Amino acid sequence: MNDTDVLTVTPAVNPGKRLLVLGGGYTGQRFARAAAARGFAVSLTSRRPPAMATGALHWLQFDSDSGSGGAAAALEEITHVLVTGAPNGSQGDPFLPLLGAMLQRQPLEWVGYLSTTGVYGDSGGAWLDETAPTRPLSERSQRRLDAEHAWQALGLPLQILRLPAIYGPHRCPFDSLRQGSCRLVHKPAQVFARVHVDDIVGAALHCLLALAPPDRPTVLNVCDDCPCPSTESLSFAAHLLGLKLPSVQRYADIEADLTPMARSFWVENRRTSNRLLHNLGYRLLYPSYREGFRASLAEETAQASDQVSGTACSGPSS
Ligand SMILES: NC(=O)c1ccc[n+]([C@@H]2O[C@H](COP(=O)([O-])OP(=O)(O)OC[C@H]3O[C@@H](n4cnc5c(N)ncnc54)[C@H](OP(=O)(O)O)[C@@H]3O)[C@@H](O)[C@H]2O)c1
Repeated sequence: MNDTDVLTVTPAVNPGKRLLVLGGGYTGQRFARAAAARGFAVSLTSRRPPAMATGALHWLQFDSDSGSGGAAAALEEITHVLVTGAPNGSQGDPFLPLLGAMLQRQPLEWVGYLSTTGVYGDSGGAWLDETAPTRPLSERSQRRLDAEHAWQALGLPLQILRLPAIYGPHRCPFDSLRQGSCRLVHKPAQVFARVHVDDIVGAALHCLLALAPPDRPTVLNVCDDCPCPSTESLSFAAHLLGLKLPSVQRYADIEADLTPMARSFWVENRRTSNRLLHNLGYRLLYPSYREGFRASLAEETAQASDQVSGTACSGPSS
């Protein structure tokens, strides 16, 4: 599925709804375009917004280091917010200190907060759902849990969407396979969970358009049906490209070479359940990396040919 398909799933039905996307990055931009196609007036922020307008999207400058820029003014009568920026080490959440009090004065119907399944910590590969205790292992995940709590403390109509690794067009292992920089690493019993970016968009839109407010869970895992070893998903990506896989390396042999950030992903092993998402009536666009990688490659290929023919539009890099 490409962006155009996402935009045409449901008709535009929301005149008068005003969405602010705090962080128009990878997921934020796709959510913004999908919401605009459903009749939302959409503003989105970036530290470096594009100089030129991009379609129906209204870009605002916002940087937690230098001030709120145009984002504070855009809060007037805002009805929906999606928060996509991660907390950082020194400041915590980038948006709350400057915008939190103003958000509390808006007629908000829905606030989506993109978090991570890292807040659960390690389950030794066992399945866990939204009722599982949060036991973050890394400082990064502890900061994320703190940010979840800070957003909850505002008393807004908040939904926390906990995400595993996000993939989609331009976020698949295709380039690293083509360049020969991809590592095929095996760690016994280790799995990784994933979600296609358009299922984050689809699940969030499902919550805010198809569910009544009392039916929207405060915490929702948004992930696909198929946590699996990275050797499995990489093998499929190589198959799609018709490329040979690199030799398999044992995790124990390469662990010492990894950056602390890379190692932090390998020391956590969990299968996050999406049963609640299914029970809410959301049908995944991409139940596994197989459909998702195939669609992502098709979209990348289509964009490359648009660029050759000069029809592609641009936003800030994400
Ligand atoms: N990538 C993954 O695999 C993954 C997995 C689980 C959860 N997540 C989380 O899911 C969320 C969305 O991910 P994504 O990949 O779509 O994120 P992304 O592309 O990195 O976009 C993040 C957005 O937040 C903005 N932002 C970040 N720090 C900011 C600051 N200090 N001041 C102002 N704006 C700031 C960025 O602004 P600019 O436009 O200026 O860059 C960008 O627009 C993030 O919170 C991410 O941590 C990601």
